[in-house]
Amino acid sequence: MPDRFDLPAGFRWGVATAAYQIEGAVAEDGRGPSVWDTFVARPGAVRDGHTGAVACDHYHRYPEDIALMKGLGLDGYRFSISWPRVLPTGAGAVNPAGLAFYDRLVDALLDAGITPLPTLFHWDLPQALEDRGGWLDRDTAYRFADYTAVVADRLGDRVPAWITLNEPFVHTVFGYALGTHAPGRALMFEALPAAHHQLLAHGLAAAVLHERGLDVMLSNNLTPVEPATPAPADLAAAAAYDALHNRLFTDPVLLGRYPDLSALGVPDDIYGAVRPGDLDLVHTPGLDGLGVNFYNPTRIAAPTDPGLLPFDLVDIPDVPHTAFGWPVVPDALRQLLVHLHELYGKSLPPLTITENGCSVEESTDPDHPRIDYLSAHLDALARAAAEGVDIRGYYTWSLLDNFEWAEGYHQRFGLVHVDFDTQRRTPRASYAWYRDLITAYRGRNER
Ligand code: BGC
Ligand code: BGC
Repeated sequence: MPDRFDLPAGFRWGVATAAYQIEGAVAEDGRGPSVWDTFVARPGAVRDGHTGAVACDHYHRYPEDIALMKGLGLDGYRFSISWPRVLPTGAGAVNPAGLAFYDRLVDALLDAGITPLPTLFHWDLPQALEDRGGWLDRDTAYRFADYTAVVADRLGDRVPAWITLNEPFVHTVFGYALGTHAPGRALMFEALPAAHHQLLAHGLAAAVLHERGLDVMLSNNLTPVEPATPAPADLAAAAAYDALHNRLFTDPVLLGRYPDLSALGVPDDIYGAVRPGDLDLVHTPGLDGLGVNFYNPTRIAAPTDPGLLPFDLVDIPDVPHTAFGWPVVPDALRQLLVHLHELYGKSLPPLTITENGCSVEESTDPDHPRIDYLSAHLDALARAAAEGVDIRGYYTWSLLDNFEWAEGYHQRFGLVHVDFDTQRRTPRASYAWYRDLITAYRGRNER
């Protein structure tokens, strides 16, 4: 059986982070407020009232963090750019100090021999744009394209490949449908115009990047969906969930059309959001790579209360669960990738795993559950590659323990432990394990 050492030649190793989760310095050097600054101030929104105001203080400590990356021997670093740091009100005047931070970051990464892979939007929308409707407002997509041009013009001489959006599914559902993430709107299916406008933003930004000769990727949170039983009602519920979580975000980009959303009761034009010609803008036939963020598979049953939702999410028993309570099923990653390969065929660009990892209890030392999780998922990746899926790289989530959204600092995903009182970084056992894996992989593949 192929294992992680058999991953294809030229495979790229990395780690991933996001701006609001690590940077801190939310009111420094002219950064404008984002929807997350507003949301964390809402009583009860985040566990124990934690906020990203300081986070990992990466804004000041990035040289130390790049030294940690260099110690791993990484090929690439996936980070996100804070839109309100660059454009404090989302549009109009550029904040030179904000752009200068990413300029320094990129140069320091290149000095360390690490290729920067920026994500342009990882959920921290400028509050000024939210005040005008956020992603429910079509105009936000056009502002995103303008912002993309500003950043690409500054960094494009040194940054070859870009990710437009992070996980429009999670942002739409948690941020606009359920309200458990910023901006905290609970619109249920009427949140879906926010999905369309993000996809439109992706398409417009992809054109901006391609015009400048830059490579474009999109990172989606994808999950293989399994019915609880083979009963027709469970199969139908699973198909409805798959349309919502996966196909809504991949079909329009790869095929130029939306999946059938009728089982969700959503009209074809997504409540009037989809205008004639939009799908030509969203469709990105020249997409250079699809980023897959994978954490766990999803088991779906027919709804117990069909008046509420057309599906129920159910647990997968008899498998280990992470500290977050997510089921650990490594072979589901192979299944997902092989399924994408079969479903989209020639329309599927090369894949990169742009997030994968697990949270472990702080007291778990050494962090063997994380090492087990990562090694089993990398073995599953190698099996998918052996079955013909084109996979180019792997960015583990995450370098550092960080601000885990509604969970505050409670879920720890880092290869490196962070003491949030002192900002002291301590590499965990999984850090040494990942470093040794990268070294061993290179040794084998250079022979
Ligand atoms: C899902 C994960 C996802 C996370 C977003 C969870 O419910 O199982 O796959 O990444 O939500 O924070
Ligand atoms: C997000 C990350 C998050 C991770 C773990 C993904 O959904 O992109 O920002 O920290 O899952 O929940």
